[in-house]
Amino acid sequence: MKGEYYKTKASVEEYIDLAKDVNGINLIERLKLHLPSMSALLELGSGPGTDWKILRKDYRVTGSDNSTEFLKHLKAKNADGEFLELDAVTLKTVQRFDGIYSNKVLHHLRDGELNDSVRRQFEILSQGGIICHSFWRGEGSEVFKGLFVNYHEEADLRSVFGELFEIILIEPYKEFDEDDSLLLIAKRKG
Ligand SMILES: C[S@@+](CC[C@H](N)C(=O)[O-])C[C@H]1O[C@@H](n2cnc3c(N)ncnc32)[C@H](O)[C@@H]1O
Repeated sequence: MKGEYYKTKASVEEYIDLAKDVNGINLIERLKLHLPSMSALLELGSGPGTDWKILRKDYRVTGSDNSTEFLKHLKAKNADGEFLELDAVTLKTVQRFDGIYSNKVLHHLRDGELNDSVRRQFEILSQGGIICHSFWRGEGSEVFKGLFVNYHEEADLRSVFGELFEIILIEPYKEFDEDDSLLLIAKRKG
């Protein structure tokens, strides 16, 4: 079941307001230690575009989302930006990138969908490409505001990403509560 929360104008406006004081600057600072500036970077699930704006200071960034409402907002606010309608599972693009970034997006994928996404990320990355993703930390899954939310621990992220990516770090960090989130940075094998 896929929720409608990010798909309606009202819910997108609500999310933009709720998230107005949060951003991924600390995650992006960590990414910058591994991905050279001016690299071609794809952001998955750009949503309001807060991180996209930070990323564009250092990278040739392409934003994306699978919500047409978020894409409408992103394009209206950033007329000179590049945005793709992309599902994080299938990643149907012929473009290639040096890095892929997402902040609190991949937790909306079921286990099988995450496996498919990891394989597609491997395919659309250049050799030695870098991924940087954040997750909600924990076990199991739930439905929140009609949206599927999958929690992850370090061990399961290692097993999902470890076959195709060399794990550089998986670290807990605080979004709202101590260690409620995990940051993963990894490098494409080969
Ligand atoms: C929790 S919001 C995070 C938005 C933004 N990254 C941020 O940090 O504020 C999740 C975002 O992921 C998008 N999303 C959810 N499932 C997706 C999927 N399968 N493919 C692409 N985007 C997805 C939603 O539309 C929404 O923009």
